[in-house]
Amino acid sequence: MIMTSELVLAEIKNGVLVITVNRPDKLNALNKQTIEDLHETLVEAENMKEVNSVIITGAGQKAFVAGADIAEFANYSVEQGKQLSSIGHFKIFNFIENFTKPVIAAVNGFALGGGLELAMACHIRVVSDNAKMGLPEVSLGVIPGYGGTQRLAQLVGKGKAFEMIVTADMIGAQDALKWGLANYVTTQDELLNKCFEITAKIQTKSPTAVKTAIKVINAGYNSKLNGYEVEIEEFGKSFGTGDFQEGVSAFLEKRKAGFKGN
Ligand code: COA
Repeated sequence: MIMTSELVLAEIKNGVLVITVNRPDKLNALNKQTIEDLHETLVEAENMKEVNSVIITGAGQKAFVAGADIAEFANYSVEQGKQLSSIGHFKIFNFIENFTKPVIAAVNGFALGGGLELAMACHIRVVSDNAKMGLPEVSLGVIPGYGGTQRLAQLVGKGKAFEMIVTADMIGAQDALKWGLANYVTTQDELLNKCFEITAKIQTKSPTAVKTAIKVINAGYNSKLNGYEVEIEEFGKSFGTGDFQEGVSAFLEKRKAGFKGN
């Protein structure tokens, strides 16, 4: 059984952990407690053998996550603002980006500020056709503080990122798809099914290789690392894994691989 709380619901369905941010009356805005609960759920999931991949979505029909909780940070000092950002990076956004299992954002409505940053920290984004996505922080006199200034440019390119951040404009699902912010657009009804279609494919693959692929892709976006060098190293290491033995044997024996994730 995985931890579930009032603010963060978690359910494992056939190896897929579905996490639902559950503050629909506040459009699932991320307050401190939600961040804590989400972090705890993720830490637990990281270590659970039975969890193969993760889907994150928001409760209700209206919002994925409408951002950090504005009421909560309204009176913050400079130091508290810095803390808010760094704790968030550490506990949620970087944590998700470096998660050892694929994480898919099922963006079911507004994904604004910290909500879009949450979706962007995930490895894949599936977006419902009613979704509105944006980084409206400059409207509040702040800037995106949960990785938005960096990850938006990585996904949509610098020009569109500048435009979205300095105008605070929201974009719809079709633009998100066109610009590379969404992998797929579906109806709201089909949203989770599309995510499960992706996780079903992942489930037949080597968990060890998938974990390594995530690590190496991320290495290319880490200015302290050389992604190509990390790739060479990790490619070599994969020859020493049980999953490699199994994958190659299965291919040569013309059977389905039964990966153990070792
Ligand atoms: N933080 C705290 N509360 C939020 C919130 C946030 N980021 N986003 C929405 N809410 C709350 C509203 O205050 C409201 O609460 P109330 O019913 O107690 O007054 C409730 O969620 C519903 O939102 P509301 O604004 O009434 O819905 P709407 O349909 O009129 O507008 C949005 C929807 C998303 C356009 C609007 O809520 C919004 O602009 N939210 C803030 C987005 C933002 O700036 N995020 C970045 C934060 S850094």
